[in-house]
Amino acid sequence: MGLSKKPYKGTRDFFPVEKRLQNYLFETMKKTAHQFSYEEYDGPMIEEVELYKAKSGEELINDQIYSFTDRGNRFVAIRPEMTPTLARMVAASYKETLRPIRWFSIPNLMRYERPQKGRLREHWQFNCDIFDAPDRLGEVEILQLAVQLMKNFGADNTMFEILINDRAIVDETFENLMSLDKDTTYKLYKIVDKAKKVTEDILKEMVSKLNLNEEQETIFFDYLSLNTFESIFIFLQKYKLDEALTTFKKFHNYAVEFGLIPFLTYDPTIVRGLDYYTGIVFEIFDKHPENRRAICGGGAYANLLKIFNEKPMTGVGFGLGDVTLTDFLRTHDLLPNVNTPTNDLLVTFQDDAALVVAQKISAKLRDNGVKVCSTFSKLKFNKVFSLAEKKGASFIAFIGGNELEKKTVLIKNLKSKEQFDISFDSIDEMVKLLK
Ligand code: HAM
Repeated sequence: MGLSKKPYKGTRDFFPVEKRLQNYLFETMKKTAHQFSYEEYDGPMIEEVELYKAKSGEELINDQIYSFTDRGNRFVAIRPEMTPTLARMVAASYKETLRPIRWFSIPNLMRYERPQKGRLREHWQFNCDIFDAPDRLGEVEILQLAVQLMKNFGADNTMFEILINDRAIVDETFENLMSLDKDTTYKLYKIVDKAKKVTEDILKEMVSKLNLNEEQETIFFDYLSLNTFESIFIFLQKYKLDEALTTFKKFHNYAVEFGLIPFLTYDPTIVRGLDYYTGIVFEIFDKHPENRRAICGGGAYANLLKIFNEKPMTGVGFGLGDVTLTDFLRTHDLLPNVNTPTNDLLVTFQDDAALVVAQKISAKLRDNGVKVCSTFSKLKFNKVFSLAEKKGASFIAFIGGNELEKKTVLIKNLKSKEQFDISFDSIDEMVKLLK
């Protein structure tokens, strides 16, 4: 029996057509990052598991990580996310780096998940993060960048929304207002994270296992019923959570001034599964009823550098996955046509004797930056046009017996249908026409 031609479960082969789409996604991501002056970085595929254990959260470590012991007895993992690597790199370099630090990367990540729509074992994730920005301004900029990215893909706020919350509000509610200990707070976080994925009865059952008293339960379900910025402000006022109210209002004021409000929806169930977040947390959701899933997730984290014995430095960022993004773009008919490659010119000849001259002209055009697809044997006129279409060529060059005699090339513009006879030596003239 021959070997399987399929890629490893949950991973993808990128044939040229898929690679063209990936290139389009990455180019749009890079363009957007550069619009905000973010600089590109990268890190290794493998890190010591310790790095993820420090902050990433139980689910990632226990269920999703690809880990193994290397030949030198080090316990390592293929990166399941980029943020710990980023934090390590920032910790190693921030003293010499101009701040705020604005960096982006598009790593491929591996998580051992059950492959399904929007979830694979390998995905590419656009990461943008800013470190050491003044109070709340980094969070607002990161959201502006995320919105700009979606706009650059042709999307608007009828197609997506950013569900947002602040972990500082949740911490104050659980720890101060409800007086829960760290362990119960942690468990309640995990329940909130699942709240929208389970029925109300299951949610109540999960909460009942925590043995909260009546007042604590009332506050908790009161909190969970909030769904607008106004309602959270009233809640924070009612329970006198003044600090959370002041800082969240500051964030909200910036969001109003910077035009972000049409994209934002307050959602108390957004707390995010990763443990390191301390400030705003958010997810970009597709509004289409058939594709209600997170395209992107992110948030602010104040303490990640502490694991490297460095002083705390605020960071905020997001990760946006290529799989969920592609589903979103397909759902809203925003995918470009990548069925064919793009070439400036297809060079053909209709007389065997023209092979060498066709090659020489092709080489000179390439020297001048023209994208040329050459052919290796003579091609009948009727075959030329279908080949040009498959190659996505804008122009075709023909060299037949006539042309050889006159020492000219016949170049046809496939869009305007115009054609030109140009001498073999007039490369500049050809370049002008083709560009
Ligand atoms: P995350 O929520 O785990 O966050 O992942 C962010 C996004 O990556 C998700 O919204 C989804 O689009 C995509 N994604 C995650 N897992 C998969 C998967 N198995 N298959 C396909 N797509 C997936 C983080 O990873 C944080 N480190 C992001 C971050 C950066 N926070 C701050 N800075």
